[in-house]
Amino acid sequence: MSQSVLLLPGDGIGPEIVAEAERVLHRVNEKFDLDLHFDSADVGGAAIDATGVPLPDSTLEKAQKSDAILLGAVGGPKWEGLEIAIRPEKGLLGLRSNLELFANLRPAILYPQLASASSLKPEVVSGLDILIVRELTGGIYFGQPRGVRELENGERQGYNTYVYSESEIRRIGRVAFEAAQQRGGKLCSVDKCNVLEVTELWREIMTDLARDYPDVELSHMYVDNAAMQLVRAPKQFDVIVTGNMFGDILSDEAAMLTGSIGMLPSASLNAEKQGMYEPCHGSAPDIAGQGIANPLATILSAAMMLRYSLGAEQAAQAIEAAVSAVLDKGLRTADIMSEDASRVSTREMGDAVLEAL
Ligand code: NAD
Ligand code: IPM
Ligand code: MN
Repeated sequence: MSQSVLLLPGDGIGPEIVAEAERVLHRVNEKFDLDLHFDSADVGGAAIDATGVPLPDSTLEKAQKSDAILLGAVGGPKWEGLEIAIRPEKGLLGLRSNLELFANLRPAILYPQLASASSLKPEVVSGLDILIVRELTGGIYFGQPRGVRELENGERQGYNTYVYSESEIRRIGRVAFEAAQQRGGKLCSVDKCNVLEVTELWREIMTDLARDYPDVELSHMYVDNAAMQLVRAPKQFDVIVTGNMFGDILSDEAAMLTGSIGMLPSASLNAEKQGMYEPCHGSAPDIAGQGIANPLATILSAAMMLRYSLGAEQAAQAIEAAVSAVLDKGLRTADIMSEDASRVSTREMGDAVLEAL
């Protein structure tokens, strides 16, 4: 059965890292006879430059028709002066909301070979394997009203609205409980229900859902404490479920436990399990164009795509094993470099993964 993959390289290091993931995908396509077909389109700043908008209709249409999407990253200093409504990031947010990709899975796994690359002590992070389930199409990112208004005294006031409906909380809750069932059986729901009514409802719904999942041990934690616990004793967590903005922040924090944000992949799924896959990091303008970005988060995102959207578990595992083999050889991009390792470029890292495959 033929399936289609849409590549959206985006901006900054996006094209550099997607190029490596694309080569890896072509290789497994042949090796496992997957019958994948590839197309590409502009999004973010690249789309603004080409068409004036961050998410052209043609890109959205291609995304809607494809079985899975692999995105690099969007944004950068070139477009920072634009108003929020037409910035590159809106292209990404538009894809997420139009495709209803409400469930964002961000696994933070420490490859044992990288224990010394983490900024935490090896004993704190060794064996780390946590999954952050981030709600992706609601919360303060999308709540209305939003904007900047003028007050009676002539001063301007910026405002956003933090909202979650019961059904939105319930559907992300179910994804998280089901993930916990398949893993270590523990789910920690992260909120700020001592201050925010919206997360009071969040906690109530999570508690209610727990009755359907007696095999999962549910706990609750305030987000400030969770941020602290993630660096104090991260292995206490199995699955974390949280809202859009808290999940954004905590997943960058969790990334560093694995050695580098360049290691963290993600899957964003809708109810039909159609998915968009992307590294958790951004377009890294500070290193773009230098050929030194770590492509592994994107390559591992491609593995998640094969697993969750394309029904190609074997190919996914082959990519993950190849990444591990490359790390075994001591090959490291600058962000995960350590004393006894050999430094490689983005392209050389891609070459090494291809060779290991
Ligand atoms: P960033 O993730 O782009 O970069 C943060 C730091 O991590 C930088 O020092 C960067 O060099 C490093 N880094 C990131 N990815 C790396 C990789 N693969 N290999 C090596 N080092 C890597 O975050 P930022 O600087 O806050 O944001 C830059 C731009 O990216 C902004 O426009 C932002 O909006 C956008 N952004 C996009 C996404 C996305 O497309 N999903 C995610 C986050 C940020
Ligand atoms: C991410 C990014 C995005 C987010 C931005 C670029 C809109 O930080 O994917 O983590 O905040 O969700
Ligand atoms: Mn982020």
